[in-house]
This record gives sequence, C-alpha cells and structure tokens, in this order.
Amino acid sequence: MFTRRELLKLGLLSGGYTLFVSGPGPRRVYGDDNLLPASPQTTPFLRPLPIPPSPPETASFTPDPACAQFVDPFKTHFFKLVEQEDSVSLHPQLPDTVVWHYRPDISNAPWPFALGPTFKARIANAVGEGVIVRMRNNLPANHVGFGVPHTTTHLHGGHHPSHSDGFPDDISGFPNFVITPEGEARGPHSYDYCYPLLDPGFFTQPRDATERPSTLWYHDHLFDFTGPNVVKGLAGFFLVFDDLDTGSETTGLQLPSGDFDIPLVLQDRRIGPDGQFRYDPLAEHEGFLGDKFLVNGAIQPFLEVKKRRYRFRFLNGSNARFYRIFLTNASGQAFPMDQIATEGGLLAAPIRGITSFEIGPAERVEVVVDFASLPATASTFFFENRLQQTEGAQPGDVLSRGAQLLQLIVGEAAPGPGPVPSVLRPFAAISQAELASARRKTFEFDQSDGWVINGRLADLEHPLTTSVRGQGEIWHLDAGSGWVHPVHLHLEFMRVLRRNGDLPPLNERDGVARKDTVNIGAGFGNVDVFVKFRDYPGPFVFHCHNIEHEDMRMMARMDIQ
Ligand code: C2O
Ligand code: CU
Ligand code: CU
Repeated sequence: MFTRRELLKLGLLSGGYTLFVSGPGPRRVYGDDNLLPASPQTTPFLRPLPIPPSPPETASFTPDPACAQFVDPFKTHFFKLVEQEDSVSLHPQLPDTVVWHYRPDISNAPWPFALGPTFKARIANAVGEGVIVRMRNNLPANHVGFGVPHTTTHLHGGHHPSHSDGFPDDISGFPNFVITPEGEARGPHSYDYCYPLLDPGFFTQPRDATERPSTLWYHDHLFDFTGPNVVKGLAGFFLVFDDLDTGSETTGLQLPSGDFDIPLVLQDRRIGPDGQFRYDPLAEHEGFLGDKFLVNGAIQPFLEVKKRRYRFRFLNGSNARFYRIFLTNASGQAFPMDQIATEGGLLAAPIRGITSFEIGPAERVEVVVDFASLPATASTFFFENRLQQTEGAQPGDVLSRGAQLLQLIVGEAAPGPGPVPSVLRPFAAISQAELASARRKTFEFDQSDGWVINGRLADLEHPLTTSVRGQGEIWHLDAGSGWVHPVHLHLEFMRVLRRNGDLPPLNERDGVARKDTVNIGAGFGNVDVFVKFRDYPGPFVFHCHNIEHEDMRMMARMDIQ
C-alpha cells in the first residue's frame, strides 16, 4: 500500500492537489457539493450520552528506561491501554460501526465506546507522582478501508518529555516513536508513555503552579495519516485535577464535580448506509467535514440533568469543522453560560453570561450552566451549533438556527454548589521586561503545492526552528488569505499578546487565559503569542490542527536545547 508520502513523491497527491486548488470549477470538498453521498437520516435524541469511564489502574511494571526517571513504583499511576478494532453503536437506527479505539488492556470485557477511557489524574507535587501508560497496538495489520494501523499517541495540551509526546514519525536518533500492529513483523508493538504531570519550570525553576491544564485529550498523531486514524476513533479525554480544581464540590473552588462534570467531544462524521465511516484520503485536502454530529461518539444523544449547576468540558475533536455553541430551548431562545476554562485550564476569572462560544478544531471551552435558573416552563434544552460550514477551508456564517447536538432533559431539583467564584486561577501576564528580552520569530501558514509553514512542507528530519530552554520568544503567526488555520503548539501553552495588533478577546488574552491552539487566517487574522520552553529538551512539533492540513504537511519540527 502507498503511504501518503509515497503518493506525494510520485506526484499523485501534489499534482491532483495543485489542480484542484488552482484549477477552474467547483472545489472538491465535503459540504454541500461533496464527493460522497449524504449519510442516512437518523432520529435525534434516541440514546443517552456515552461517558466512557476511567481506565482501571494496573499493578506497577518496569517501564521503558526512557521513563525510568519519572517513575516511582509506589507513587506512579500505571495504566495499560490497547488500540483495537471493534464494532460499536453510534445510533440505534444504524448498523454497528467498525472503529479503531483505545480501551483498557487488562481484560476482554466489552468497551462499547468509540472513545477511549476518560483519565482523571492529579497534578504531581513531586517527581514520580505522575502517570505511565503502556500502549499496545493490536490493530489489524491487514485491514480494508481508510486508516493506517501504525500509531503514535499524543497527549494534547500536556507538558511532558519528547519521548512521550507522540512524535509523528520515526526520525534519525529516535527510531521507535511509531508502533506497529502485533500482526506485523516489524516492531515495536507497544510503547510506554510517561506523563510526569509536573508544573512547568519544575526542573528549570521557577516552577509555575498557576499553570495547570484541566481538559487534555489524547489522540493518534501518525505522520500524514492522523486525519483518517482520528476519524476511525483513536481519541479520548484526559482530565487533570489539583488542590484548587479538586473534583469535589466541597473542597477548593467547589465547582460542579463528579456526575455533574461532563466532558463533551464534538465530532462530525460521514456514514454509509452500512453504518461505516466514510473518508476519502485522496480527496480531503481542505479539511474533512461530516454531516452527522456526534457527541462522545454517539449521534445526537440526550443527557438527563438535574436542576442544579453542571460543568461541561467542550472539546472540538473534529478534523476541520468549527462550531458556535448556544444553549437553547426548542424555540431557539438562547440562555447564558459562564465560561471557566480553555485549553490552558481554569481562567484567571470566569467570563460570565456568554450566550455562545466559538470552538475551533482541538480547542477546549469549559462552561458552567445552572439548570435551576432556566425557565421552568420548558424541561428540554439543547446545545446547538449555529455556525454554518460547507467547506473545510473555513467556517461560514452564524445562522439563526442550527443543528441540535445534544438534548438536555431537566429533571428534579438537586442540591449543588453555588455560583462560580469570581476568582478562579489568577496568574500574572508576561511582564514587560520579559517581553522586551524575548526573541522574535514569524511563522506564515500558507498553501503552495501543499500546506506550508514559512514555505516549507513538514520535514521531521530537520527542525524548522530551535529554541533555547528558558528563553522567552514572541511568535507572530500569520496566514495566507482564504483559509483558517487552528495552530497548535506542543509542550507549552501560548500567551496571546495581540490579535491583529490589538488587545485579544478575554477568552484568549494573556493574564486571563492560556491557549494551546489559536485560530488564524480568514476572519481571524494574525496573532502574537509569547512562548517559553521549559524543562524538556528534544524534538517536538507545532502544526495546523485542521488535520487534513496537518496531514498535508502543515507541520514543523522544533527542537528545544
Ligand atoms: Cu492534537 Cu499535535 O495535536
Ligand atoms: Cu498537542
Ligand atoms: Cu490549516
């Protein structure tokens, strides 16, 4: 079978690509005039929202030597996952769907979820209190259809060693990032990922205890083939708690917790009448758009809620689709939500009373909703997406009504925590002194015979940029016209200093929020972000998280020295 790279070398992909970008006629995109037929009709809100449970911890094991310094047999939390092909139900009116998913690797008990297990971890106070995951690849070596059963797992938003970052491909000096199916002779077939969960600066000082994420996710990151592999299902949540955001309603900030703290991943898919995912690896260049909306791996599910406050952790796990989410009733009236977090964890202070929020690929937005404050005349509400998008390249307009992604059925009153506190996790914006001494870099995201950064297709053998540990940098991120790029940086969060030269909106502004993905290009413009690499040396990547752009090489290696 040809890899996407081999096709590129043969000129098949790039030739076809150039033709379709610059040639006449309609763009070949999923959307209104897409290549594949529409998915079958399904009745919404027939099945409950799936929430995959946490993986069971396993007994300690001796990890790969690369992880040894981060592991304490008595304090580290050990997990074993396997990547496997299974059939799951996305909707009761459709035949079961073959997925590739992550599941616990300690028994063959059914894992009826498209998503992997939901990790719930705590920030470590000392080396050795983190998490280690032994990942085994049991995908079919010979399968039919799209997807490539070689994998490398990235914990998106995490601050952890290069060895465990899910680097997209094997490179000189690092020959074993990618694991292969057990049915394939070439190994290795498993990999130990160590997630120390130490505050940034832990090793280089000063340690920054205000910089703690809350909602991370893990997904496959195979070079050139992340798009198909993620569509097949390889994704899951990884939630992080600490002494402020405790996971309890009686301690710390007392945010809605436990059964009232709901992760929601938004994904769009295209499905055939046989119930199987459709994805055309040779046609998806602008970005894959599906016409079925999944939440946590189910098509338009429902959730029964009590009359009290809930925390919802939204993750856009779609390849190319943007959403604008409203909390609405059946007639389309919108109700307020309080935003409490982004990719970088809790905001310094909540942004109260928003009536909608936009969320691009890989972004996270956490909100608190008080069902007790909604009008009692209705008991059914929705999270509704009103952002139209008919081409992968960019979202369209906000419409007056949209697709109801999740139905919320409000039941009886129940006790719960009070309003969101007015201070969450305060932190100082980057100081003028540090900004003044920062190195400046510019990265242009554009297309020319492929998706390029500073004119280059991804070349993982050579870093596009090199950074010195502890040296602050200001990156100017800009894009060619006609396209949106959700730019994602591994290893460290970005502090958004300016958007189009001005103060950025609160939900991304330094001093209020931290970001691991920022949107640039059509409708968004450019940004200046401050970054500083601490602790972990080695090769990492940054890239566009429109996954088809990423797979068509809008990615760069960066080395930290
Ligand atoms: Cu979620 Cu490098 O990706
Ligand atoms: Cu990432
Ligand atoms: Cu892009």
